[in-house]
Amino acid sequence: MSHLSDRELEKVAEAYEQLLGPALFEPWADRLADAAEIQPGHRVLDVACGTGILTRAVASRVADTGAVSGVDINPGMLAVARRHSPGIELHQGPAEALPFDNDQFDAVVSQFGLTFFSEPDTALREMKRVLKPGGHLALAVFDSLDKLPAYATLASIYERLIDPGVGKALQRPFSMGDTDRLALLLHEADIPAPVILTHEGTAHFDSIRNMVLADVRGWFPFAGIELGESAIEAVVHEASKELAAFQTSHGGVEFKVPVHFITATKA
Ligand SMILES: C[S@@+](CC[C@H](N)C(=O)[O-])C[C@H]1O[C@@H](n2cnc3c(N)ncnc32)[C@H](O)[C@@H]1O
Repeated sequence: MSHLSDRELEKVAEAYEQLLGPALFEPWADRLADAAEIQPGHRVLDVACGTGILTRAVASRVADTGAVSGVDINPGMLAVARRHSPGIELHQGPAEALPFDNDQFDAVVSQFGLTFFSEPDTALREMKRVLKPGGHLALAVFDSLDKLPAYATLASIYERLIDPGVGKALQRPFSMGDTDRLALLLHEADIPAPVILTHEGTAHFDSIRNMVLADVRGWFPFAGIELGESAIEAVVHEASKELAAFQTSHGGVEFKVPVHFITATKA
């Protein structure tokens, strides 16, 4: 990420907010806020808040008597969050070292960050540390790639047409879908009596091209992946054939997205 200037990071983050947010991330914000049992007056932390999609949903629930803070490692994501979420306290830093004292929050929430953390067990311990006793933890993690055939197909197209490393990057958001391994991670991080429940959502993109561009413009550059126009066209062309099963009659793309919610309460 460091090779991009702040302005470039922000541009990618804005594409994330516009292209990926509505299709993949916004549909989960209210559902995860429900799972965290957020009430007016609560103090809530959103870890890996990105452009603030969940942070804003939480802010509307805690109302004027509560407060929401967001933390993310990426200054570009935070710049977009600041523009879209005026008045919300945002911090730049790693989930593995949260800049808060112990026992501060009624709820700690995080959607789709865990698979990107370099030390997910440390991040989980940090989330528990900053929760008040009795506070709720609620996390969302995508199911495995074999449960999301549209992305499995896209990853395989990148592997064959572009570079195995790009296919591998696209697999990362779906790398913690195995619930046995997830349960082991939660146990190792000392999360008390975690519950893992799988929910189903629907992803919708306006077109196959926009589904491809959402990754290419909305987060690949964060991972050091820059694709030229001919590579993009080749992927769109192949995806138009291989993703035909997911096309709607209006030319959009639609597919089921299973997501694991992890909830726990601090003793
Ligand atoms: C898929 S995005 C999810 C963002 C947001 N939660 C949402 O629902 O739109 C993953 C986020 O994790 C952040 N991230 C990755 N590693 C991180 C770390 N170690 N600490 C904090 N944030 C991190 C990224 O910058 C990115 O904003």
